[in-house]
Amino acid sequence: MYAQMVKSTGETVVAKEKLSPKEREFQDRIDRGEKIEPKDWMPEEYRKNLIRQIGQHAHSEIVGQLPEGNWITRAPTLERKANLLAKVQDEAGHGLYLYCAAETLGVSRDELFDMLHKGKMKYSSIFNYPTLTWADMGAIGWLVDGAAIMNQVPLQRTSYGPYARAMVRICKEESFHQRQGFQIMLTMAQGTEDQKRMAQDALNRFWYPSLMMFGPSDKDSVHSAQSMAWKIKMNSNDELRQKFVDEIAPQAAFLGLNIPDDDLVWNEKTGHHDYSEPDWDEFFQVISGNGPCNKERLDARKKAWNDGAWVRDGMLAHARKKAMRKVAE
Ligand code: 3HC
Repeated sequence: MYAQMVKSTGETVVAKEKLSPKEREFQDRIDRGEKIEPKDWMPEEYRKNLIRQIGQHAHSEIVGQLPEGNWITRAPTLERKANLLAKVQDEAGHGLYLYCAAETLGVSRDELFDMLHKGKMKYSSIFNYPTLTWADMGAIGWLVDGAAIMNQVPLQRTSYGPYARAMVRICKEESFHQRQGFQIMLTMAQGTEDQKRMAQDALNRFWYPSLMMFGPSDKDSVHSAQSMAWKIKMNSNDELRQKFVDEIAPQAAFLGLNIPDDDLVWNEKTGHHDYSEPDWDEFFQVISGNGPCNKERLDARKKAWNDGAWVRDGMLAHARKKAMRKVAE
């Protein structure tokens, strides 16, 4: 919608002279690189947009545990099992930091979960694809965590203080995740013919879904212009996707694996790789709830929420009793 206005310079979408004095002062703070903190004044749209992005991000971390959790009991060695267990636990932690960051904007965790369960909030498209073999754990670590890092390192400089601070630890942990994924791929690519075939098959299935993680192409991105003006987002979707392709192409060559794109070539003129766009119809289907595993993932999350009701009820009853005892004292 605003494609022609997508810029990474922090310029406002609404011309500055049209902003109210409060909004202009706010934009000046953003332009100076100041962090916005929870008690600071902020435009309502800034608050809502942040809740949307941070909430979606938190949900992605939590839903992202499901495809990998599936392989903990079937990891091939004790070391791989311990690594995968630690990684899946890290994702839970990332979700919690992000829910906390969203809560500072005046939304409760219960409300965020409710929106997820009712399909009013999204989570990353990538987690709607199945994990069919052990090699998928390698491809997810290498490509999915790799794409996540590419997107999230710049978010350490995002304008909202609690979000930026949460991203620092998340990025450190994600880079460990990416290395463990690459290491799985390396072992398999140098293994038996069957292992190499599994590694190639995982790359074939996860390549385009990984490219989709960066969001629709800039011309179809509805939030980029305003989000970049407010430094909620630091780069456009296409910029980060290109950086990702440029980074992964030589890594795939090192592994001796083929990226499933005949048009992927180094372009001397642009100094980047040319590559084929993902199937955007498939992307929009997946984010509308029609991907291969959408129903399974959402059902699993709803079940976890319902199964945990007795814990929440017990803790609330305990807190109420404690508060009443205090009043009686
Ligand atoms: N999956 C699902 N929905 C997506 C999507 C994706 N990969 N990419 C875009 N969308 C949605 C947007 O949310 C928006 O829908 P909405 O209006 O209902 O919210 C719509 O498609 C249009 O896209 P835009 O480009 O306008 O949206 P954004 O400006 O928000 O850009 C984004 C999308 C780049 C993903 C941005 O939100 C972002 O940088 N988010 C923070 C990072 C994040 O959420 N990462 C999740 C990755 S998974 C992860 O980190 C787990 C780890 O363990 C691997």
